[in-house]
Amino acid sequence: MKKFNFFNKISTKIAMSFSLTFVLTLLVLNIIIYISITTHINTLEQSLVVARKEVIVEEVNNIIFKSSTLGEKEISNIINKVRSHRDQIYVNLKFPKKTYQSFEKITLPYTIDIDQVGEYHFIKLKRNRFFYLNTIIKAPSGENIYIQLISDLKASDSLIDALTSTMLLIDLVGFIISIVTGVIFAKKTLKPINSISDTAELINLHNLNKRIEASNHDDEIGKLIKVINDMMERLERSFENQTKFISDASHELRTPLSIINGYVDLLSQWGIDNKELTKEALSSIKEEVFNMTDLMEKLLFIAREENTRYKLNLTNVDIPNLLKRVYKEFKMIDKKHTYLIHNISEFHGFIDEKLILQAIRALIENSIKYTPKNKQITISCEKKKSYFEIKVSDKGIGIPKKHIPKLFNRFYRVDEARTKDTGGNGLGLSIVKSIVDMHNGHIFIDSEVNKGTTITLKLPI
Ligand SMILES: Nc1ncnc2c1ncn2[C@@H]1O[C@H](COP(=O)(O)OP(=O)(O)OP(=O)(O)O)[C@@H](O)[C@H]1O
Ligand SMILES: [Mg+2]
Repeated sequence: MKKFNFFNKISTKIAMSFSLTFVLTLLVLNIIIYISITTHINTLEQSLVVARKEVIVEEVNNIIFKSSTLGEKEISNIINKVRSHRDQIYVNLKFPKKTYQSFEKITLPYTIDIDQVGEYHFIKLKRNRFFYLNTIIKAPSGENIYIQLISDLKASDSLIDALTSTMLLIDLVGFIISIVTGVIFAKKTLKPINSISDTAELINLHNLNKRIEASNHDDEIGKLIKVINDMMERLERSFENQTKFISDASHELRTPLSIINGYVDLLSQWGIDNKELTKEALSSIKEEVFNMTDLMEKLLFIAREENTRYKLNLTNVDIPNLLKRVYKEFKMIDKKHTYLIHNISEFHGFIDEKLILQAIRALIENSIKYTPKNKQITISCEKKKSYFEIKVSDKGIGIPKKHIPKLFNRFYRVDEARTKDTGGNGLGLSIVKSIVDMHNGHIFIDSEVNKGTTITLKLPI
């Protein structure tokens, strides 16, 4: 069997799409978590800086508003106050004649427009993030004191970094796990498909009896296996029927052919001078040729009906009128029986006239064959609500009950000996049945030995 490229396998495709979906979902989720946590941390840091700014502004105000000048003493008092806060928030101060920088890594701009006061500015120094907030206080003496608060975001950033790498690790592990489980799951699910193709490969005309091992899962694949097995069952049966049909048909043809062959031998042996013999041979050959033509016609009908799903030519037909025609026809050609037709008022049926006529004739021909001389054959029809019935009944020899279910099988005859002289092939009723089936109708046989037979065709209007 053809081995598939790894990427062409359905299992790979399923596993891939499964894990891609999983990882994408995980990634989106992580991005949302990342954004909300960083926003939250930044806001937290900012509010800490603002709180510190308020404390420092208050402390500075306390010092400068006690005296009217901003002298050395006040300045060093302010610096001492600022120094006493020891944490991640640095404070830089700028007095008219002095600066104090607790954060000396970089000189940040103090120049601030009054509008800018209170705005945050982010800076990045060697992968380390800071943000700063500038503010300004006017001393009573009129001088400006610039205050700059700088918050080191190292701690929060390392928290965010740790979070990011943990999330990436989870994504990676999730991706691997989803691929592995995806492959296992897809393989397990698709395993029956391999067994389907393995079995299908083994099936050919000589072992149509192979079946795919039934899956015990009630799912799509289980259904597929059942459908394929049912199809194989039908194929096998139809193939058997076909074979039986061919062997039966050739068997049927063998008898008339050997009779013809016998007479031809006889004629060539005794010569055509023997008038008596020639007459007998020719008449027998003619009869056999007639039988063979009849058989060929029936076989052709069956083959056509089987191969091409016979196309019905449905028309609105006056059923009683049709029966009257058949009645007249048989009354004329068969003088051995008495015919009766029930008086019926007009109604129409939507049928293929040619086929229904063929079916009625086949039924009457049976009645003729299996009804002793001078007995009655009756034809009738009746309209019911959504269907109508056509009945052909006779007062003939009847059919034993046990044979009735098999009468629609091809080549089935009740009694070989009995039909030898009446010359049937056992195809008539099977053809009638398929004609009725084509019309979505039903056929019923009611018969009693030595009393007679009634065959009813029930057809939808
Ligand atoms: N009206 C009937 N009375 C008694 N037996 C019947 C009647 N109709 C059918 N049968 C029995 O059913 C068998 C099958 O009938 P069917 O019409 O299929 O075949 P056939 O008449 O033997 O041959 P064919 O119709 O192919 O010439 C007949 O051989 C006969 O034994
Ligand atoms: Mg018949």
